[in-house]
This record gives sequence, structure tokens and C-alpha cells, in this order.
Amino acid sequence: MLNIVVCVSGGGTNLQAIIDGIENKTIENTRVIGVISNNAGAYALKRAEAANVPAFCISPGSFGNRGEFNRAFLEKLRELKPDLIVLAGFLVILPPEMIETYRGRIINIHPSLIPSFCGTGFYGLKVHEAVLARGVKVTGATVHYVDEGTDTGEIILQKAVEVKEGDTPEILQRRVMEEAEWVILPAAINKIAHNIPPGDGHDFA
Ligand code: GAR
Repeated sequence: MLNIVVCVSGGGTNLQAIIDGIENKTIENTRVIGVISNNAGAYALKRAEAANVPAFCISPGSFGNRGEFNRAFLEKLRELKPDLIVLAGFLVILPPEMIETYRGRIINIHPSLIPSFCGTGFYGLKVHEAVLARGVKVTGATVHYVDEGTDTGEIILQKAVEVKEGDTPEILQRRVMEEAEWVILPAAINKIAHNIPPGDGHDFA
């Protein structure tokens, strides 16, 4: 059984896709043992409660400095003992010690086809704004392992999504979520739960 902790900051639609995937068995041998949000107002926390998953808010604002926040965050992870940490719209810079401790056991979903439209400053709607400003015709989403860089870790799965005439950042974001993110994030977790390395089974999604 793969025990996962999902880290979130906002709406939590990717968290929901994971919860639903476990429920409908598109993700096997996996359970969500905890959800951690840095934001007390995150709707993702409500989704966790509704699914009877233990949810925790650890917010940088309630600590004196970044070091104290990092310690509290790492302590919670130590307590939960996850096999895999899933960053599902988690907009916090990870403590370096966390990357070291959980190397190869942290994955992230990014709303573009890496290496396009990724790195520092590219998150959430900003990614889709940049895609539209550049005028590319195809975008998508990527699930990758997390290393010390921003969006630089090994790629596990990607899925392309068409950019359409008249798209707004919001419309495009929704299409990327529906057609790519909510498909490849559950599929990547299922791959890991079956011990399939990133290079194999590209048709798994
Ligand atoms: C998702 O689109 C995710 O790909 C993005 O934040 C959104 C969270 O939505 N993540 C990043 O931009 C990370 N660089 P959700 O809370 O509804 O899952």
C-alpha cells in the first residue's frame, strides 16, 4: 500500500481527482493519509474533510520565521511517514531538507508542457496567461519528480491540450485541468504504486 500525503494551497481539484481515483480504482494500492495546506482558507481542506482524510494547516504566517515554519512542516511529515508526497497546487518553496530527506518520493503537477512555461514565477493562471501571450497552439500538463530546481526534476507523465481561438486564461486553465491534470496526476500515482519507473509505460495514462 502506497501511503501518500497531498500538499495543497487552493481549490484542491487535483486533490479531488486523487480521492476520486482511489474511490473508483483508477488508482490502486494507494491511500491518502494526510493533506497539508499552507492556507487556512483553502477549499482543498474541505475536500479532505469530506473524504475523511486528516487535514492540517501549517501556515508560514503563524510562525516567527521561515526556519520555524520549515521545522513544523517537516515534523508533520515525519509524524505522517508518507511513502510519497504529492504537490497538488502547493505554492510554497520546499525546505531544502525536505527535498534531501524525501528524494525520489516527491512529485508535482505543473500546468504546462515542461520545459515550456515553467520555472520561477510560472504558477497557476500566470502559466496560461503566458501561453496565450506567446500564441502557442498546444499546451498541456506535466507530472514530475521534485529536485532542488524549480520544475527541473525527472518527468513522469505529460499530456498535450489544444489552445483554442478565443481562450481566456481561465477557460484554458479549466481545459488543461480537465483534459490533462486530472488524468495524469492519478495515472502517475498509480504508476508509482505499481513500481513502474518514469521511463516505462508511457501509454499508462
Ligand atoms: C493546478 O493547475 C496546478 O497544476 C497548479 O496549480 C493549480 C492548483 O489547482 N500548480 C502550479 O502552478 C505549480 N507550479 P487545484 O488546487 O484546483 O488542484
